[in-house]
Amino acid sequence: MSQRVIFGKTGLSVSPVCFGTWQLSPRFWGDQSKTDILAAMRKALDLEINFFDTADAYGDGYAETVLGEFMAGVRRNSIILATKVFNHFNPDASRYPDLSSAHIVERCEASLKRLRTDYIDLYLLHFFDPLAPLADVAETMERLRQQGKIRHYGVSNHTLEQFRASRVFGAFNAAQPSYSLLDLRIETDFLPYCLAENVGVMIYSPMHKGLLTGKYKGHETFTDFRKGHPDFQDERFRKITAAVQGLKPMADKYGLSLYQLILAATLMHPAIQSAVTGIKTPDQIAEAAGAMGKEIERSDYFAIRSALAIDGVTKVKDAAGKTK
Ligand SMILES: NC(=O)c1ccc[n+]([C@@H]2O[C@H](COP(=O)([O-])OP(=O)(O)OC[C@H]3O[C@@H](n4cnc5c(N)ncnc54)[C@H](OP(=O)(O)O)[C@@H]3O)[C@@H](O)[C@H]2O)c1
Repeated sequence: MSQRVIFGKTGLSVSPVCFGTWQLSPRFWGDQSKTDILAAMRKALDLEINFFDTADAYGDGYAETVLGEFMAGVRRNSIILATKVFNHFNPDASRYPDLSSAHIVERCEASLKRLRTDYIDLYLLHFFDPLAPLADVAETMERLRQQGKIRHYGVSNHTLEQFRASRVFGAFNAAQPSYSLLDLRIETDFLPYCLAENVGVMIYSPMHKGLLTGKYKGHETFTDFRKGHPDFQDERFRKITAAVQGLKPMADKYGLSLYQLILAATLMHPAIQSAVTGIKTPDQIAEAAGAMGKEIERSDYFAIRSALAIDGVTKVKDAAGKTK
């Protein structure tokens, strides 16, 4: 049976699992096998996952290029495609925020070309640009929509006030905030607002960058960006991984893996339509697909939250302050 949810006011029909492509950014994740990732994308479609997330910043265009290679071989309307704009890239690979109108238009054209498509379903502002007048940004997004280059637009990594202010000027009907059962900050205000306004919400990093997948036991070391991430170090890493492993009997009760139990629980929040999961291999997307449509009892849902309520790990950085 097809697993689809309506993505808020956009009306897009999307899978509860969204395929995330940040893993194609070597700067963060090291080199990945393009063959494996293309195979995982094909597997996603076979498993009824139709939602794909990327950004021009992931690998400075490389993730979009690989996704474009995949899209060239499939029916365009079998995919709901989200990508993002924010950075002005210098020839030396340095970058700075730029949501000026001319730059958005130029980046949109470049994304369309790399993605080998003539429209983007969901175009997101990757971060908030303090120098860009909100009316101008909204007018630019609306113009791209009217030209048929994008179907809907929204934001990522915005605070509630930044998002509300943007919505005064334009139909920003989608949001991509960071959220996991280790990082519940947006539950206090952002998610209730999205629910009340019927905003489409696709949360990112549901497995806390791999930490909640159940494969780590607390002794591992990392060579990618996680080697400098506080949740992946020392005592805190050991505490979190032990808490995740402690959920194994509950996962067994549902016939799910730890990854699937935690992803299924994450998707239970009524404001969240889809979770953008980071994928490197066909097996990883198959495991994520197995979480779709799985019900967790209310008492178990709160037991998972309690198990993962570990002091000091719920907040690492300000969600609006990161750059990718
Ligand atoms: N808007 C934004 O600013 C923003 C920021 C970050 C991410 N995103 C989007 O959200 C996506 C997901 O974020 P994330 O990469 O942080 O996600 P995540 O889903 O929390 O973690 C992904 C990592 O988990 C591991 N993994 C995945 N499936 C697994 C499985 N079945 N079993 C065991 N391990 C598994 C992989 O790393 P290992 O195998 O190496 O452990 C993978 O790189 C990104 O790809 C991107 O599209 C958006």
